[in-house]
Amino acid sequence: MQDIRFAVAAEFEQVDQLIIDQLHSDVDMVENIGHYIVDAGGKRLRPLLVLLVAKALGRCETPAITFAAVIEFIHTATLLHDDVVDISSLRRGRPTANAEFGNAPSVLVGDFLYTRAFQLMVQLADFDILRRMADTTNTIAEGEVLQLVRAGDARTTQAQYLDVITRKTAILFAAGCYGAATLCGRDEASRQSMHAFGLNLGIAFQMIDDILDYEGDPEKMGKNVGDDLTEGKPTLPLIYTLEHGTTAERELVTRAITEKTSRDITDVLAAVQRCGALDYTREQARHYHDLAKQELERLPPGPAREALHAVTALSINRNH
Ligand code: IPE
Ligand code: IPE
Ligand code: MG
Ligand code: MG
Repeated sequence: MQDIRFAVAAEFEQVDQLIIDQLHSDVDMVENIGHYIVDAGGKRLRPLLVLLVAKALGRCETPAITFAAVIEFIHTATLLHDDVVDISSLRRGRPTANAEFGNAPSVLVGDFLYTRAFQLMVQLADFDILRRMADTTNTIAEGEVLQLVRAGDARTTQAQYLDVITRKTAILFAAGCYGAATLCGRDEASRQSMHAFGLNLGIAFQMIDDILDYEGDPEKMGKNVGDDLTEGKPTLPLIYTLEHGTTAERELVTRAITEKTSRDITDVLAAVQRCGALDYTREQARHYHDLAKQELERLPPGPAREALHAVTALSINRNH
C-alpha cells in the first residue's frame, strides 16, 4: 500500500488531515464515535483512487483532496449503517461502533458523516459532481435495501446479485473516479471511461469481499467471517453452489439462507469449496478486474497510472 501511495504521498497526507479536521463537532458523542471508526484506519482505497486518477489526469490539487475526503466520509457513513443492519461485531480490528456504543448512536453519527460529506462537497461548487453524488448516495441506499429484501431468498439469481453489489459498492468507486476526471476538466468520454474503471473495479472488489466472508482470516481482515451466512445473504459463492451443488448441498445451502443461520457454516464452506464456487467467484472477479484494467490504458502513462494498475491488481489479490 505504501508503495502504491508513493505517487500521491503528500496529497494523501492532506486527505488524512482533512478527514480529521472535518470530524469536528461540538457534540462530544459525534466526535468520539467519528474518531473511533476513522482512527481505526481502513485501507482508504477510495480516496487513493480519487487522488491517483486526478494525478494521472494532471490536476491533483485542493479540489481533488476535498473530493477524496468526501468519498471516504460517505464510505465510512455506509459502514456505520451497514454494521447495524448486518449486526456485525468487528470492523477494522475493533468492536464495531454498534457493538461499542449501540445502534442508535451508530446510525445518527453515520448521518452526521453523510451530511458532512455534502457540506464539504458544496465547497467544490461543481454542480455536475453534486448531482452525481446525490444520485450515487441514493443508489447506495437502494442497494442496501435491495440486499435486505434479497436476504433469506435462496432463489436470488446471479443477475440480481450483480445488481445489488453494483449499487451498494461499485457505484461509489465509479463516482469517485468519475468525479476526479470531472475536477480535472476532462470531457465526457474520459469521465465515462473513469466511471467504467471504478464500476468494474468495485464489482471485483465486492466479489472478493464476499469470498473473504467465507475463507478469510479475521485477524488479517479486521472483521468476522460468516457474517453473510448469518444474515442469509445470497452472495455469489452460495448462488453458484445452489446452481451446481449436489442435491444434499443445495438443500443445506437453501436451509442456511432461508433460516438465516451460520449454524452449519463448516458444512456450507465445504460444499462451497467442493463445487468450485469460490474459484468461480474468483474468476468472475478477475473478469471485472480485466475490464477495469482496460480502461486504464486510456490514461496518460506515468507513475500514477502504474499505481492504479497496482491498486487494481491488489483489489483481487488481497486478504483484507
Ligand atoms: C468494506 O470496504 C465494505 C465493502 C464495500 C466490501 P473496505 O474493505 O474498503 O473497508 P475499509 O475502509 O478498508 O475498512
Ligand atoms: C458493504 O457490504 C456495502 C456497504 C457498506 C454499502 P458488506 O456488508 O459485504 O461489507 P462488510 O463485509 O460488512 O464490510
Ligand atoms: Mg456488512
Ligand atoms: Mg462483506
